[in-house]
Amino acid sequence: MTSSGPIRPLALRARIVTPLAAGGTLDLADGLLETDDGGRIIGVRPWRGAADAAVEVADLRPLVLLPGMVDLHAHLPQLPNAGLGAGLDLLTWLDRYIFPLEHAYDRSVAERQAPAAWSAFAAAGTTTVLAYAAIWPDSTDAAFEAAEAHGIRAIIGKVMMDRLTYDAGIDPGRILESSLRQSDELASRWHGRDGGRLQYAFTPRFAVSCSADLLRESAALARLHGAYWQTHLSEDGGEINEVRRLFPDARDYLDCYERAGGLGPKSIFAHAIHLSDDEVRRLVAGGSAVAHCPASNVFLASGLMPLAAYRAAGMRVGLGSDVAGGPEASIFATMRAGVVVQRALELTGRAAPDGALRPSDWLRAGTLDGAGALGLSHSIGSLEAGKEADLIAIDPGLTTPLPGDEQPLDTEDLLSRLIFRTHPNMVRAAWVRGRPLAGPPGIGGIG
Ligand code: GUN
Ligand code: ZN
Repeated sequence: MTSSGPIRPLALRARIVTPLAAGGTLDLADGLLETDDGGRIIGVRPWRGAADAAVEVADLRPLVLLPGMVDLHAHLPQLPNAGLGAGLDLLTWLDRYIFPLEHAYDRSVAERQAPAAWSAFAAAGTTTVLAYAAIWPDSTDAAFEAAEAHGIRAIIGKVMMDRLTYDAGIDPGRILESSLRQSDELASRWHGRDGGRLQYAFTPRFAVSCSADLLRESAALARLHGAYWQTHLSEDGGEINEVRRLFPDARDYLDCYERAGGLGPKSIFAHAIHLSDDEVRRLVAGGSAVAHCPASNVFLASGLMPLAAYRAAGMRVGLGSDVAGGPEASIFATMRAGVVVQRALELTGRAAPDGALRPSDWLRAGTLDGAGALGLSHSIGSLEAGKEADLIAIDPGLTTPLPGDEQPLDTEDLLSRLIFRTHPNMVRAAWVRGRPLAGPPGIGGIG
């Protein structure tokens, strides 16, 4: 398993299920996916026989090939805390569980943990991650180095906080300047590395932790580098009250970011649960995307995001695990929580049942829509000719209730099983640009 050296072309025979850029879902019961030595997909088509493939065919049946999942929101240093702290509200949880953990995330901790973290994402089926590191530049560097070696597609940012921060040692008068300089240096070093596999996201944590100057200057730097800008928006009642107190002139939460020049197609806002209609309209008009994090939103009792209404308003929405706010680094688990939240909204009369997403819509949300939120849907997010070969192989047999009693399932039922009966070992292999990633158990010599 390596992220350097020549790429071996692949010819994989399996059931192939993927959203299509033009709409709809392709489900080939017996298909062939071929890649070239540049890690691109040459073709996806029904199986016609081994003589038809350019290289030796690996018969993966009964495995199923899917596009790799895109996780639009995760916190790398928080993985060790996943599942801890249930019952707390966001600000208490950050204070008790998260800030001490991130404070300790120095270079040596990152060097030890980040390789395992990237493997954990790959084992869960995720091939692209938009991640927050901690406030330390050297451990952010280590997280990038680990992603470079691992092979996962990663967009990472050093967390920026110039108030309510866990950096007790720094002179408050210099924190803004140093945070901007460190982020600028990291972006210069990493943004676009390895043909764009690694990118940088300027990462002001949220308006509670950031001055108006930090928000404005970080957004300007992101534009200068052509990099991403990510932050949290309207997640929790206590947080929203605090933002109101800290930004008395802002007309609402989104306005704190809007007046900083933070809205645009490369801005990703996590959570965005409690938006007014006007905030939704401005967010959509600004072309920004939202990372929907339903597992976290329930774990921290932050709220129920009205996904169907947001989508109807034209919002670009992908999925985020938000580990450790979300207890699992899995987009399948995130989908499951998303369905439950939708059902809860229906039960309480806040969403119409006919607006409910189908399992194939959730697959699209976790893959192609996430890629679209990052402006990468031309190169990843679905299994289609010309795209980069970011894909996973799943063993659906592990999700059946009675082993050995597998039934043929249509597309929606197959995906429903993967979402509602996600098995920790069901992802057998994951590839980025045709290269296998460490994490899943693997399939012989090819994955
Ligand atoms: N808001 C600010 N920081 C965080 C964080 O680390 N996790 C979550 N869920 N929300 C936040
Ligand atoms: Zn978060």
